[in-house]
Amino acid sequence: MSRVYNFSAGPAALPLPVLEKAKSELVDYKTAGMSVMEMSHRSKAFLEIYEKAVADVTELMNIPKNYKVLFLQGGASLQFSMVPINLMKNKKADYVNTGEWSKKAIKEAKKLGEVNVVATSENETFNHIPALDPSKFSKDADYFHITTNNTIYGTRFTSLPETNGIPIVTDMSSCILSEVYDVSKYGIIYAGAQKNIGPAGVCLVIIREDLLGGAPAGTPTMLDYKTHADNDSMFNTPPTYGIYIAGLVFEWLKELGGLPAIQKINEEKAKSLYDYLDESKLFKATVAKADRSLMNVPFITGNNDLDSKFVKEAEKAGLVNLKGHRSVGGMRASIYNAMPVEGVQALISFMKKFEKDNN
Ligand SMILES: Cc1ncc(COP(=O)(O)O)c(C=O)c1O
Repeated sequence: MSRVYNFSAGPAALPLPVLEKAKSELVDYKTAGMSVMEMSHRSKAFLEIYEKAVADVTELMNIPKNYKVLFLQGGASLQFSMVPINLMKNKKADYVNTGEWSKKAIKEAKKLGEVNVVATSENETFNHIPALDPSKFSKDADYFHITTNNTIYGTRFTSLPETNGIPIVTDMSSCILSEVYDVSKYGIIYAGAQKNIGPAGVCLVIIREDLLGGAPAGTPTMLDYKTHADNDSMFNTPPTYGIYIAGLVFEWLKELGGLPAIQKINEEKAKSLYDYLDESKLFKATVAKADRSLMNVPFITGNNDLDSKFVKEAEKAGLVNLKGHRSVGGMRASIYNAMPVEGVQALISFMKKFEKDNN
C-alpha cells in the first residue's frame, strides 16, 4: 500500500485508522450480514451508530444541553440560506466578510433581508481578519455571522466580538474539531463534513434550542431547522454512511485525547510550517501573523513558474494537492486533523531541498 500525504483543502484526508476500521466493517458490519450503507436508517444497528456519533461529538465539543446536534445535507452552502430563512425575523443581519465563503453566505442572506457588512479585508486579498468596530454593529440584527476559518485565504478568528445578546452564527467548515471552542458563545455552528468530520455529503449543525421554530409560515419543510430537530435528523433518510464515518472520526479523536490533544498537535504542526516560511528566502506566508490559520497555510514564491514547478515536483515526491486556490495563486497546504506530524515534516524537508536547488 502506498498512501500519499494529501494536502487537499477538501474533500480532505481522513485518519488512516478510521479508513481501516471502515474497511474491516465494510461488508459485514458487526455480524449484521450487511454494510452500514445497506441498512435502514430506522434499524437498531444504525440508530446505535447515530446516537453514539451525537453523544461523542457532544462530549468532544462539550456541547451544552440546550443545543441540538443535527446531521443535514446540502453542505455548508445550504446553511448560507437556511440560517437567514430561519433566523431573519427582523429581516436584518450583520456579516463579517473574510473571503469567498463569507461572500457566498452574504449573497444568500441578501435575498432574504438587509445585510450589514460590518467589516471586510477584501481590499487586501483577505490576508487578515479585519478589526471589528462595535459602533458599526446593528442593534436590531437577528444574528451576527462570521466564517471562523477561511479555507482559501488561510485566516482565522482568534476572538469573538461582543454582540450584546445577538446570536453569533459561524461557518466552521474548515476548523471544526481542530481546537477547543466554547459552543455556548454561539447561536449556530455549521460545518460541511469533508475536512475534519468525514466524507462530503454531511453537514453538522449545532443549534441553540431557542433559535428553533423561527422559520416563517410557508418555509419548505426541509429548510426548517425545527423539522430536523424534532425528528433527530431522521425526517428523511439521512446520509447514513457519512454519519457512520463521522462517528469513527469522533472515536479516533476521543482516543487521541479529545480536542485539547488535537489542538496541541495542530498548533505544533502549524508552528513548524510557519516558522520555516518565516525564515525561508524563497517561500513566503501570505497571511498576517496574528490571524494565521492552523488548518490552511497559503504560501508563495512570488514567481508563477517556480510555484508550478514546486507543485509538480512535490507531487512526484508524494506530497499532493498543494496548488493554491486560483484567487490567491501559489500554494496552499491544508493540514487538517488527519494530516500527521510526519506529513508536515516531509513537506518542510521537501521545501528546504527545493529552496536549496532553486536559489
Ligand atoms: C469555510 C467554508 N464554507 C463553506 C464551504 C462550502 O461547503 P460545501 O461544499 O459543503 O457546501 C467550504 C468548502 O470548502 C468552506 O471551506
